[in-house]
Amino acid sequence: MFNNAGISGIGPLHDIELNTWKKVLDVNVTGVFLVSKAIVPLMMKNKAGSIINMSSCIAEIGLVNRASYAASKGAVLSLTKSMQVDYAPYNIRVNALMPGTIYTPFVEDYLSKDPNPESAIAKIKERQLSGDLGKPIDVAYAALYLASDESKFMMGSPFMIDGGVVNGKSS
Ligand SMILES: NC(=O)c1ccc[n+]([C@@H]2O[C@H](COP(=O)([O-])OP(=O)(O)OC[C@H]3O[C@@H](n4cnc5c(N)ncnc54)[C@H](O)[C@@H]3O)[C@@H](O)[C@H]2O)c1
Repeated sequence: MFNNAGISGIGPLHDIELNTWKKVLDVNVTGVFLVSKAIVPLMMKNKAGSIINMSSCIAEIGLVNRASYAASKGAVLSLTKSMQVDYAPYNIRVNALMPGTIYTPFVEDYLSKDPNPESAIAKIKERQLSGDLGKPIDVAYAALYLASDESKFMMGSPFMIDGGVVNGKSS
């Protein structure tokens, strides 16, 4: 099961309307809760399953103007670890994907609203070690790996696919 759906949330905490905050948390966190709640009993019965929750590398390091989004992705990461502890006895693995900036409609939309998209892309690249933005296929391969038995020893892990953003920051 791949809990991938998510929405963006822009702004620092003091500018965020309560409704916007609730919507970001509803889709990004409660969405994972509801879909998992529906499917986990079946996996428990079958004593097999791999759950992949979409977090973000922002859960680890934060990002300017993303308070609600970072909070939601941090919650997804914590939920992943807690689910893993609860469901390991049922042979269910639960891991989190932690992408950096991946060029999807989500990012295209964000860039289209920027008065200077070229400079926005340059700023994104400054945060990472790779010279390219991530592509959906980069994340898809990671999801396929987590879904397969090849990743059977990965449990409760944050799986970085971020072009070196998190480790680049510390080097
Ligand atoms: N693109 C990035 O740079 C990036 C980085 C880190 C994490 N992510 C995460 O990856 C996931 C996918 O993002 P994306 O970049 O493909 O974005 P996207 O906007 O292209 O796709 C998001 C998908 O979620 C679906 N969705 C949104 N709200 C929904 C709802 N209430 N119910 C059901 N479906 C809903 C949309 O229909 C869409 O198919 C998201 O969870 C996002 O937070 C994206």
